[in-house]
Amino acid sequence: MPSNPTVKLLFEEESTAAGDDLGNWNRKTQQNGSGGIKREKRRFRCGLCWCLSLSGVMLLAGIAIGLFAFTRLYAGCIEEKRNDNEDSELTLEEEIFAECGQGYPWKQVRLPTDISPTNYRLKIHPNLESLEIVGTVDMELQVENETRIIVFHAQDMNLTSFTIRLGSQRVHARHLICPRLLQWAFETDEPFPAKSVIRLSIDYTGFIHKDLSGLYINTHQDKRNGTNDTTVYRISAVTQFEPTHARKMLPCFDEPNFKAVFDISIIRKKEHLARTNMQLIRSEDYEDE
Ligand SMILES: *[C@@H]1O[C@H](CO)[C@@H](O)[C@H](O)[C@H]1NC(C)=O
Ligand SMILES: *[C@@H]1O[C@H](CO)[C@@H](O)[C@H](O)[C@H]1NC(C)=O
Ligand SMILES: *[C@@H]1O[C@H](CO)[C@@H](O)[C@H](O)[C@H]1NC(C)=O
Ligand SMILES: *[C@@H]1O[C@H](CO)[C@@H](O)[C@H](O)[C@H]1NC(C)=O
Repeated sequence: MPSNPTVKLLFEEESTAAGDDLGNWNRKTQQNGSGGIKREKRRFRCGLCWCLSLSGVMLLAGIAIGLFAFTRLYAGCIEEKRNDNEDSELTLEEEIFAECGQGYPWKQVRLPTDISPTNYRLKIHPNLESLEIVGTVDMELQVENETRIIVFHAQDMNLTSFTIRLGSQRVHARHLICPRLLQWAFETDEPFPAKSVIRLSIDYTGFIHKDLSGLYINTHQDKRNGTNDTTVYRISAVTQFEPTHARKMLPCFDEPNFKAVFDISIIRKKEHLARTNMQLIRSEDYEDE
């Protein structure tokens, strides 16, 4: 598939920006060489630059609009500054506490290793017009060490329903969300025994992204239109999962150590094509409700 240089450039920008999402603030601030500068401080600095560059623009744009905008922006900066003073000593654990709630049972960026996936059965319906994704993922999970929590990644999606089974037995669990860590957790009262196998089934909704990450919408030029030699524009939904974007398409253990087998069903329109790097098992008619 042809890709133009603009797409490549944007992709590189996206990868760099994604680093921030992983809780790499510490690394960044160390590079700054000034020790304990925290996330909020950086935010405030950005706010300040924004004020300064905008006041430059406003001189050109006219005083009437300028005054209004400046008041608004100035208020914004004050707000950020106050934030900075309050939160300047937050540790990762305190941020998790603040953003994910007191009860969130995991406090690290890296997932626990007590449970690992062996198989994902994914059924996904990406709608190329509405850009909505409706999906179901059935995970087969191997319990290595006894634990009461299943923790994995999920970003930009909502849970519709879930079931957890231990053997033939259905297990009750609480669903917990941590935006700070881009994780979901299921917590049970009774621990899953070591060496057991869990089946976790999740129905969810998500969306096709426009920023070249996860499952994203792509437009490309195609010179071939049957025998008609005119350029046509074609739309496709394409995956870019590295480094940490698989979690935007399906709930999953989105770290390189958690390797597993995927069985994928894609619900598509008759006139669309589905392409993957593995062979097709079968294709059948599907009745949409
Ligand atoms: C399981 O627990 C043992 C003992 O605490 C530990 O050494 C091992 O690393 C754990 N295994 C995993 C996969 O976390
Ligand atoms: C998830 O739910 C929130 C709140 O109801 C909503 O704003 C958002 O659009 C939903 N996202 C998806 C992908 O369904
Ligand atoms: C492709 O060519 C066919 C005729 O061969 C024409 O009907 C159709 O409009 C063309 N599509 C586009 C998008 O140009
Ligand atoms: C080729 O496609 C263009 C664009 O849709 C259309 O205007 C033209 O009539 C088509 N030519 C033939 C020979 O089908």
